[in-house]
Amino acid sequence: MCGILGYTGNRQASDILLNGLAKLEYRGYDSAGLAVLDKGEIKIAKNKGRLKVLEEKIKSGHEISGTCGIGHTRWATHGEPSDVNAHPLWSDDKDVVIVHNGIVENYREIKNKLSEHGYKFYSQTDTEAAVKLIDFYYKQEKNPLKAILKAIKEIEGSYCFVMLFKDFPDEVWGARKDLPLIAGQGKDESFLASDVSAILQDTRQVYYLDNMEIVQLKKGVVRFFDTEGYAKPKELSEVTWDMNAAEKGGFEHFMMKEIHEQARAVKDTFGSVYHSGKINLNEIGLNDENIKSISQIYIIACGSAYHAGAVAQYVIEDLAKIPVRIELASEFRYRNMPMNKNSLAIIISQSGETADTLAAMRRAKENGIKTLAIVNVVGSTIAREADSVFYTMAGPEIAVATTKAYSAQLIACYVLAMQFAKVRNEIDDSYYEKLMSDIQKLPEKIDEILDAKETLEEIAYKFVNSRNAFYLGRNIDYAVAMEGSLKMKEISYLHSEAIAAGEMKHGPISLIEKGMLVAGVMTQKNLYQKIASNMLEAKSRGGFLLIVATRGCENLKEEADLIFYVPETDEHFAASLAVIPLQLLGYYVAVARKLDVDKPRNLAKSVTVE
Ligand code: F6R
Repeated sequence: MCGILGYTGNRQASDILLNGLAKLEYRGYDSAGLAVLDKGEIKIAKNKGRLKVLEEKIKSGHEISGTCGIGHTRWATHGEPSDVNAHPLWSDDKDVVIVHNGIVENYREIKNKLSEHGYKFYSQTDTEAAVKLIDFYYKQEKNPLKAILKAIKEIEGSYCFVMLFKDFPDEVWGARKDLPLIAGQGKDESFLASDVSAILQDTRQVYYLDNMEIVQLKKGVVRFFDTEGYAKPKELSEVTWDMNAAEKGGFEHFMMKEIHEQARAVKDTFGSVYHSGKINLNEIGLNDENIKSISQIYIIACGSAYHAGAVAQYVIEDLAKIPVRIELASEFRYRNMPMNKNSLAIIISQSGETADTLAAMRRAKENGIKTLAIVNVVGSTIAREADSVFYTMAGPEIAVATTKAYSAQLIACYVLAMQFAKVRNEIDDSYYEKLMSDIQKLPEKIDEILDAKETLEEIAYKFVNSRNAFYLGRNIDYAVAMEGSLKMKEISYLHSEAIAAGEMKHGPISLIEKGMLVAGVMTQKNLYQKIASNMLEAKSRGGFLLIVATRGCENLKEEADLIFYVPETDEHFAASLAVIPLQLLGYYVAVARKLDVDKPRNLAKSVTVE
């Protein structure tokens, strides 16, 4: 996600901000900017591209003088990476200037309201709605705290805002909801940062802001307020992490950090199309007429994105009753298959740059098929060339093995399935409401699973010397098994195969040896008994049975070597929960084998060659 910084003190703010933002580069970004308040004027510099460009632009900070400022590295979500959309953003008269991390979900409603009051909008960002709403109240109240309080009562979504008010010299203001913000205390200076690594070179004395808190920085003074505007006492903490650990938010690896970011990625992806209690697909280029006319869906992707598509195939077919073919992009691009013009090709890609996926998408377009891309990186080639885009809101993924982007892709697919089913009258209103309720509970359930991760850490040591593993499932559980198996093999180098459980006795069963990991996924009630029988066949040949099952599943309680239960949800969404323990298992086996979890051998994060 974006990086945020604020500073007030006696040193040149632009130097501090450029240094601090450099410490946040590891998070990934596509543009950078800063604003400095000096002698009643706010000066701003920002651009698309690297921090180095910004640094050169302001000649290492010397062209923007002043000792109070804010800075930002942006990972685009609303609006492509560009100079205009880069942060900071400002109110029409530059009275208020803001940097923002997160999503203002109701930005359209806010823009409409402010337009009626004469506000004009120059960027494609949701952030501009926020800064202008704060300005709107600031003009009435003439008081930053009161303006922020009024605005955040109206703003829906998750955010961390850091702001300057032109008429309040030496002050930086911040507010947070669901995203981290840390205040740092130095001698005669103070800091705000989205990530402690940005300020560790200056101070180790920090305050962690609680959710829905507002903070005011003055030189060496930090004050906190609740949502009623009352001052709140807060205890100073000392950071003991080193810089390396700080970048990873205290986790040993980026992969584990990203596993923990999944609840947020899921929530934000859903939130991006869910406004005022409704899912709206118009903004991703799908209206009811388009949806009704679809006669066939092709889902095209590679690797984990293909596995997300494999889940989607079951979910869309079952809910929306549209035939779905899931295609490996590397195969699809060389196939000559007759394609129905009323088809929709759904292209899934985290990076938006995968060579095979891009070529396959172009192939679909040549055949006159409408393309919808589910992509994480805004402005990537696939996003630009697709007819329409559904952006996942996972934020930058650093570990090579995907976790949070995969989880966000699943949510995008569920949303399509639900909406297709509703528009085509394949499900009734009460079931649709149940799906709406269950999809919104997934984030808390993901966190609940993560709270029990130690069980998997302990068991992982059993497989340090293993050479082979099987992952079994049927239907959606088979799609989850494919992803679990890939996680295991790509980071722990333990050879692992996902098998549609019914296929076991057609060959693979001959490979089972004593102690071999056989992981089974059981989230689909009508298939519990079937998969249990397949697992028992493996057990009787010496397999070590590790089951991931939905709470309440009674099968294999006696026979399994370990059952890891995940919370109940609508079965169409079960992949989002069942995959978490399998990601953790792959991770812990790789750690137990002392491997480079974040950068597994021979793999690249973005596969831009065929
Ligand atoms: C596995 C993994 C890969 C990618 C695949 C497609 O953890 O990350 O299998 O899913 O290379 O990449 P994108 O989604 O960028 O098209």
